[in-house]
Amino acid sequence: MITVKTESEIDLLRESCAIVRDTLAYVGSKIRPGVSTRELDRYAEEYIRSRGAEPSCLGYCGYPASICASVNEVVVHGIPSEDKYLREGDIVSIDLCAYKNGFHGDGARTFAVGEVSEEKQKLIRVTEECFWEAVKNLRAGTPLYDIGAAVQAHAEGNGFSVVREFVGHGIGREMHEDPSVPNFGKRGTGIRLKAGMTICIEPMILAGGRHVHLLSDGWTAVTDDRRPAAHYENTVVIREDGVEILTI
Ligand code: MF3
Ligand code: CO
Repeated sequence: MITVKTESEIDLLRESCAIVRDTLAYVGSKIRPGVSTRELDRYAEEYIRSRGAEPSCLGYCGYPASICASVNEVVVHGIPSEDKYLREGDIVSIDLCAYKNGFHGDGARTFAVGEVSEEKQKLIRVTEECFWEAVKNLRAGTPLYDIGAAVQAHAEGNGFSVVREFVGHGIGREMHEDPSVPNFGKRGTGIRLKAGMTICIEPMILAGGRHVHLLSDGWTAVTDDRRPAAHYENTVVIREDGVEILTI
């Protein structure tokens, strides 16, 4: 069931999303060679709680941390680890959710650690551009799969690929609500979005082939070809005349 939010519900969601935005910036400011992903997780948890919110991911389906920290070939759901140190040349995707006043906000960014290769720079840039391509013409009445069609066209047009196994989603009182929001699809198909729907648009883009597998921890998703991946996510509200982006 897809819920349409009232303005007062959107006000609450806006607050959770502002915390996500600020936490992403704060964690981003801590990224440097030598920091462990577990240390980044502690910074995030401490900051989220300092804003009167809870880290939604912690304990979600047994997930053991407050953020996902996905390095290089890890696509999503990298579990922070005390002995996973970032190194010069890595890229790391930080994905986190904050829960406050009954609503979840969700966002992700991919950061470069020091100087990174041109391919990785392009991957980070194109992944963010995929988000902007997806929202460019998005408004009430837009068919849902226009989002994925825009992401896929921009990613593949740049020689990259999109993951099929992980998708964006509705968000609100639950971290994952209907509808699923794939990063691929056929323009003009799917339900028509309505004003007041709140969704997470989250391109997950792969430098190489589109196939991924899970590591034995049951969470960490890695590209089959071990080439790098990037992730960029915002929570948005569908409006009559466009979108309101809550996590920027
Ligand atoms: N933020 C992720 C998403 O976009 C959720 C991952 S939280 C985890 O769906 F607990 F599942 F890791
Ligand atoms: Co999400």
